[in-house]
Amino acid sequence: MRVLVTGGAGYIGSHTVVQLIAAGHEVVIVDSFVNASPSVLPRLEDLAGTSIETHSFDVRDVDKTSALFAEGRFDAVIHFAGLKAVGESSEIPLEYYDNNLGTTFSLLRAMQRHEVGTLVFSSSATVYGETTTVPMHEDLPTSATNPYGWTKVMQEQILSDAARAGGPQIALLRYFNPVGAHVSGTIGEDPQGTPNNLMPFIAQVAVGRRARLQVFGDDYPTPDGTALRDYIHVEDLAAGHVAALEHLGAHPEIDVRAWNLGTGQGSSVLEMVRAFEAASGRPVPHDVAPRRRGDLAVCYADPTRAESELGWRAQHTIERMCADTWRWQAANPQGYNA
Ligand code: NAD
Ligand code: WQD
Repeated sequence: MRVLVTGGAGYIGSHTVVQLIAAGHEVVIVDSFVNASPSVLPRLEDLAGTSIETHSFDVRDVDKTSALFAEGRFDAVIHFAGLKAVGESSEIPLEYYDNNLGTTFSLLRAMQRHEVGTLVFSSSATVYGETTTVPMHEDLPTSATNPYGWTKVMQEQILSDAARAGGPQIALLRYFNPVGAHVSGTIGEDPQGTPNNLMPFIAQVAVGRRARLQVFGDDYPTPDGTALRDYIHVEDLAAGHVAALEHLGAHPEIDVRAWNLGTGQGSSVLEMVRAFEAASGRPVPHDVAPRRRGDLAVCYADPTRAESELGWRAQHTIERMCADTWRWQAANPQGYNA
């Protein structure tokens, strides 16, 4: 297939581009670089062993997006482009609604006009809102606790309505906690400023960029008191996109379907700290701090639907996630800006 990847220069998009090309698909990237560095591109081309057509503009620009589709002859779209920082989304909610919904409208219009029939969408476990049901399965009701989460709930609704009204076939992929990096250590997660997420924060402490990790809460009703999450290797996630794309192609009767992409296992904050110390051979000094507002005690996937329908299953262990993150961080202590 010839696949347009929006946000293809970002963390999950870049890893997915490499796997799509390895699986024999042709890839075109569009990215505004609002949260990515152009220096990822030569690294991607090295890994893929081919040049990659890349366009630098904001997907909310309807004219540019439509012009790209007019030339592109795409068979499918994978839509990663979006803003994703939970805390920031409460500070600048309109930017989040505008960007995340605006890119979706622009894409749907262009797909309709140019008859592109397949879309794979980056959704999130955040759409399960405050649910305390674990493991989380796809039929749970959706809701949210912050503007970022609402953009995902709303995008799912908009995409589902479009698909059911004869629009493109749509896969809603609900990621749990993506971590890790390509095994080469040449591409990985490079957050701007202070990392919001646990794994990049731990990695920056281990490499000496930050002094100490704060562990948000050790009084949760979990075995060691710290919160449990379903960490999934970004390479497993990338493989989930290839599987979803190929599944939609083989099942034209599907209009829209949600699949969780997680491992089904919960790991605690302290387990992640210890696993990272073991993988890196470096200490990760940490203090216990109060709980972070809005955090669930426990969150992990029921991944059985993806396994039975997509034939996809997460393969990589926590040890491997830490080893690959460390290889990337140690080789690129300042990320792509080195
Ligand atoms: P990322 O920020 O690394 O990648 C997103 C990419 O989209 C960036 O390269 C950014 O420059 C680009 N972008 C943003 N707005 C754009 C626009 N209007 N036009 C064109 N490009 C634009 O984030 P990521 O972690 O790779 O996440 C990819 C997708 O997966 C996002 O939609 C995110 O919400 C979703 N997701 C991420 C996580 C996670 O924890 N990383 C979890 C669940 C879902
Ligand atoms: C994991 C655990 C923290 C940082 C977020 C989004 C979610 C999805 C994935 C996009 C929690 C603890 C963290 C730190 C810590 N993204 N922690 N010290 O919150 O599970 O999920 O990313 O869709 O929507 O909310 O991930 O990595 O921020 O936190 O103790 O400095 O690590 O409290 O228990 P989270 P996270």
